[in-house]
Amino acid sequence: MKKIVVFSGAGVSAESGIKTFRDQNGLWENHDINEVATPQAWAKNPALVLKFYNQRRKQMFEVSPNSAHKAIAKLEKYYDVTVITQNVDDLHERAGSSNVIHLHGELKNARCEKENCHIYDFRERPINLGDFCENGHQLRPDIVWFGEMVPMMEKANFIASTADIFIVVGTSLNVYPAAGIIHYLNQGIPCYLIDPNIPQYNFPNNWEIIEKKAGSGMPELYQKLTEDLK
Ligand code: APR
Repeated sequence: MKKIVVFSGAGVSAESGIKTFRDQNGLWENHDINEVATPQAWAKNPALVLKFYNQRRKQMFEVSPNSAHKAIAKLEKYYDVTVITQNVDDLHERAGSSNVIHLHGELKNARCEKENCHIYDFRERPINLGDFCENGHQLRPDIVWFGEMVPMMEKANFIASTADIFIVVGTSLNVYPAAGIIHYLNQGIPCYLIDPNIPQYNFPNNWEIIEKKAGSGMPELYQKLTEDLK
């Protein structure tokens, strides 16, 4: 089986009803990154940070995977697929993708505020001040904040380097190191980018640019990639 690596961002979940970050009226237009998404914010006002992510977590369980998540999951019938996502929602998994790497953490989890300690499933409830791990440390969202290391980056870059086909969907390619993944691809492999607003980048000519929303662009790409294999 050929290997497809999908690199996704907030745009893949937009049609499920989750706001992107940098589009008009996006999350970062209405919230200050420095107040909610940095280690400094956590040190200064953990209650505000928890409130922000508790809202995100609650919302995530009110929405469902869309046709883009589903098309990506269905590719597994014909390809060895790894999804490398910047998203902290679990919509790829709920759509049926079995191999998902979350570069920026997972909303459903809480983890100890001390590095490399315990991770807990907090699907059902908010994280509050006073929720501790078994070593007595405060729990925080399992999110990679601005200014923090991206622990899965090296693994993700390696997986990208093994791709036969690479698909980028719904990311502004603005945030590093995540966006740097495209520099690890084997030269000349078929690459596809699906986004209604194409990021400013000089894409080489092995890239096919699909200027559409994920909900229509991804099912179309699924058809194209599977039609000769059925
Ligand atoms: N279908 C596909 N793409 C879409 C759609 C849609 N329906 N709607 C919007 N988009 C595109 C936008 O055009 C944009 O290119 O999704 C992209 C969203 O970009 P960002 O908001 O910057 O989100 P993302 O690239 O995922 O951000 C990366 O930044 O703040 C951090 O940690 C956060 O993981 C996130 C990272």
